[in-house]
Amino acid sequence: MAEPSISIAQHYHQRTKYDPQTLTGRGLDFDRQPSPYKDYKLGGQIDLKAHLKEHSPLDESNQWSRLSRLLYCSYGLTGMIPYPGNPIYLRAAPSAGGLYPAEVYLVCREDAFLPAGLYNYQASTHSLLQFWESNVWSALQEACLWHPALEHTPIALVMTAVFFRSAWRYEDRAYRRIFLDSGHLLGNIELAASLNDYRSHLIGGFVDRQVNQLLYLDEQQEGAIAVVGLADLLEVEQNLPQLPTALASPVQADYPDLVDGELLGYCHQATQIEASEAAYTTVTPPPAVADKYNFPFCLKVPVQTLPIDWQPNLEGLEATLLRRRSTRRYTGAEISLDQLFALLDFTYHPEHYVDQGLEGNPDYFDLSLIETFVAVSGVTGLEEGCYYYAPQANELRQIRFKNFRQELHYLCLQQDLGRDAAAVVFHTADLTPAIARYGDRAYRYLHMDAGHLGQRLNLAAIHLSLGVSGIGGFFDDQVNEVLGIPVDEAALYITTLGDPADGN
Ligand SMILES: Cc1cc2nc3c(=O)[nH]c(=O)nc-3n(C[C@H](O)[C@H](O)[C@H](O)COP(=O)(O)O)c2cc1C
Repeated sequence: MAEPSISIAQHYHQRTKYDPQTLTGRGLDFDRQPSPYKDYKLGGQIDLKAHLKEHSPLDESNQWSRLSRLLYCSYGLTGMIPYPGNPIYLRAAPSAGGLYPAEVYLVCREDAFLPAGLYNYQASTHSLLQFWESNVWSALQEACLWHPALEHTPIALVMTAVFFRSAWRYEDRAYRRIFLDSGHLLGNIELAASLNDYRSHLIGGFVDRQVNQLLYLDEQQEGAIAVVGLADLLEVEQNLPQLPTALASPVQADYPDLVDGELLGYCHQATQIEASEAAYTTVTPPPAVADKYNFPFCLKVPVQTLPIDWQPNLEGLEATLLRRRSTRRYTGAEISLDQLFALLDFTYHPEHYVDQGLEGNPDYFDLSLIETFVAVSGVTGLEEGCYYYAPQANELRQIRFKNFRQELHYLCLQQDLGRDAAAVVFHTADLTPAIARYGDRAYRYLHMDAGHLGQRLNLAAIHLSLGVSGIGGFFDDQVNEVLGIPVDEAALYITTLGDPADGN
């Protein structure tokens, strides 16, 4: 039933909660399993594989090499599960269920080093498929409401989602996972951009219909979800300041009764921006906010650590992007406090990594809306319990002290990863102020930001030889109840961390 007093995003969130009373397992229809690749009947293929090896800064072909490495480190095929006759390929960015709903497109202006037009990144062959040959840059600018980054960058990436790839398995709740997946991919793009002397400028507010039409998307099946202006830092005029990333959509509190199966599509339509509804010129940056929670008399543990050393030329980061895998099983052994501190440092304090050549203030939509809680089950030197991580004070503040292994197992739909992890990170948000600021589109932004943070946790963990896996399926309300997380906080995403049983 529609609840007219709450907006569509809140209704969607409420309706797609997993609950112990109602969660039912449903068999998957393997005859309808969608392909994770997009085929084009026509177009010119540009092979990028050959450019992966060259890497000389003065070489003219270096532009190709940088772009090739950027795409490969972000979404290239980096792993394979050898099922007989039907191997499953894994990508640099993780994806719930390995379904890869996100597609990456490239739009080029006339003065880019590759011909103007529209390209689809074909991960299966690590190539670009040019399916449109003329200059559509001004149409992209108009669709992105004249975002200032696109005045200067000759290339933009557009991330789209093919909804059924994920909905095939996760039904309406797939909408959450699609944006979490995409956030992981944005995290890779941000870091792989830095590795290759680019800076990614995130654009979340655009006229959906115009971007979709520009890319010839079938709007019943797929939709644009983020645009990234790719600034070449080797060109002086492309060194741009921090720019706004998000625009609001309307708040829709008047929606019909939606039956299961209609929620995802409806929510996506309802969170679109129409032409002339908004403009970047009027955007005020998100406020700098103090840490949201302080608990009187609680144990406070300051995070004391040196930044993670990503090695000269960030070689360790590139290697990590390419070898990251989700851990399938933990031993249950403890991790060290230093390791936990290092994970938090890399994820929440990018400003500590400028000396190593990374972006100190990477684009998110609005991190002031997201909170972090950590359930500690096995961190040497840290009492078991649930902690709030205060990013400004850079300290952990204890909310509950207890070993939650059994509860975490249950919360994570009885996945052993929850029980055997040494620490479980929860990203949460109060949907009411988020929707007040960005309309129902806030729901997209929150999940992409949570996924982006999740990817930084992933990469730091792998580099530190820890295991890590995202968890997109959990009993929503029980998260707050059991861990003592304030009731207004909606759980967006879980990242488990621990000692990997399968190596790393
Ligand atoms: C949003 C999201 C949710 C996920 N949820 C789960 C989960 O609930 N359980 C699990 O075992 N793995 C989960 N994973 C991990 C995926 O299964 C994994 O990324 C995928 O199989 C691809 O493998 P790779 O990460 O090793 O490349 C999740 C990953 C993402 C990005």
